[in-house]
Amino acid sequence: MSKKRGAFITLEGADGAGKTTQLSFVQQWLEQRQIDLAVTREPGGTPFGEALRSLLLDRENLEISDEAELLTVFAARQQHINACILPSLDSGKWVLSDRFTDASYAYQGGGRGIPFERIAVLEDWVQGALQPDLTILLDIDVALGAKRSEDRGSQADRFERESEEFKAAVRQAYLTRVASSDGRIQLVDASGSIEQVQAKISAVLMTFTQSFGA
Ligand code: TYD
Repeated sequence: MSKKRGAFITLEGADGAGKTTQLSFVQQWLEQRQIDLAVTREPGGTPFGEALRSLLLDRENLEISDEAELLTVFAARQQHINACILPSLDSGKWVLSDRFTDASYAYQGGGRGIPFERIAVLEDWVQGALQPDLTILLDIDVALGAKRSEDRGSQADRFERESEEFKAAVRQAYLTRVASSDGRIQLVDASGSIEQVQAKISAVLMTFTQSFGA
């Protein structure tokens, strides 16, 4: 008998929402339940994708057009899906990705203003039927997220340097996606303490793992 296909889980959220901390929490939560897990990220997840990530995040790279940016995240994604995500899922592993296509709708769609329909063409081409089974969206007020990033003190990358208006549009695009996702995207209010947010994430994971039959 062939192994049951693994679940594909993605984590999304604006800068300052605590995504890095909560990604390790989700990883531990799943591994404690003996789930065989591949943890990966976008842009990135393959040597080619990581090289593209460096180009995309480099704050000195001022000449990237909005369209070139969109095509680059999808070039990295194509490689990622075929070299990493699909082989893992097919072998029965679960995949946890730090960001995926919802980020393209949020950043390149909402932030840069590229029409969602244009992004949908690339999504369809690159992904076919592949969609995450669950997406956890850490939602945070733009000003609070910016303050948290600032307190962290690390150097802002090309996206983190964008204006408040850009960040507000990113957040709005994520929220629009939740409404049309048929329950796939679970919104988690990330404004509380780490423990409060973790309690909410646990509840989401519990419901998901039970329904997936893990
Ligand atoms: P991020 O996930 O915030 O990493 P870190 O936590 O290490 O700062 O960085 C990735 C950036 O890439 C983020 O600002 C959003 C951006 N991005 C896009 O613009 N489009 C995409 O499709 C993806 C996957 C990411």
